[in-house]
Amino acid sequence: MLGAGKIGSAIIKAIIESGLAEVMATGRREVTLENARKLGAVATRDNRAAVEWGEVIVLSVKPHHFPKVLSEVGPGPWAGKVVVSVMAGVSLRTLRHYLRGAEVFRAMPNINALVKKSSTAVAGDKESSAAATVEKIFSALGRVYWVPEDLIDAWTGLAGSGPAYIAEIVDGLILGALAVGMPRDLALETILDVLEGTAELLRRYRMHPAQMRDEVTTPAGTTIAGLSILEAEGVKAALIKTVKAATERAAEINALIDKKIALHGKM
Ligand SMILES: NC(=O)c1ccc[n+]([C@@H]2O[C@H](COP(=O)([O-])OP(=O)(O)OC[C@H]3O[C@@H](n4cnc5c(N)ncnc54)[C@H](OP(=O)(O)O)[C@@H]3O)[C@@H](O)[C@H]2O)c1
Repeated sequence: MLGAGKIGSAIIKAIIESGLAEVMATGRREVTLENARKLGAVATRDNRAAVEWGEVIVLSVKPHHFPKVLSEVGPGPWAGKVVVSVMAGVSLRTLRHYLRGAEVFRAMPNINALVKKSSTAVAGDKESSAAATVEKIFSALGRVYWVPEDLIDAWTGLAGSGPAYIAEIVDGLILGALAVGMPRDLALETILDVLEGTAELLRRYRMHPAQMRDEVTTPAGTTIAGLSILEAEGVKAALIKTVKAATERAAEINALIDKKIALHGKM
């Protein structure tokens, strides 16, 4: 694990807890190394030694740290390794250029990895012999979805930023509950139950969300009174625009990052 920061630590924790593999982790600060040791990894500042030691290398530094890591490791040790980058924005093409001889994948987990409920997008050659290993590692964090690389921006706009949208919706519903006199803690717990239950129903019965809505919407009842406001306030239209805007921003940022990294090595 090159870069045992926030997401790196979540991955280390999941790998070690599920007994998948031994982990060597790198970082710069003592506190980073100490944290990795507490999670059960061997920790070092020596990125080259870690790459030489590992069979599967996870790149979890920030993209602007990547050139430094490359110069520390040198071109040699990557050959024959399986490398999974969780760095936002660095394309498979760029990774393949720098990590000569490695089998390269990109993975994008989200913050829900902290409770092993990440929806992780993985891009790369699904037919290669390393694909099963990569899938196993990221399955320790939650669900894995193989996607073509050109869907990574959309994935970021939907699932990467998704926890923030859902948190906003939960917050809005809590405010609504407060407005009608419900204590905050009770409202929060109730909404989380509703969220979990609805997700499970939709998934288990493969129900279309519109069908679920119709099943609880009785003529002249309470739900249609609430739904009328959602429609009048344009909530659905806003959600469509939300995902589009986030996806466009992801594409902008990712193109910029990839260009910078590529320029660094004069690709
Ligand atoms: N956080 C998320 O939910 C999430 C989700 C998906 C993808 N990502 C991607 O994952 C990457 C890391 O994000 P993060 O949030 O985990 O950032 P972070 O907490 O800042 O972690 C980056 C880590 O890299 C280490 N590092 C920097 N330069 C290094 C070097 N030369 N050698 C060894 N270690 C080095 C840092 O160590 P020190 O702390 O010791 O300086 C730090 O622990 C980013 O590219 C991000 O786009 C993050």
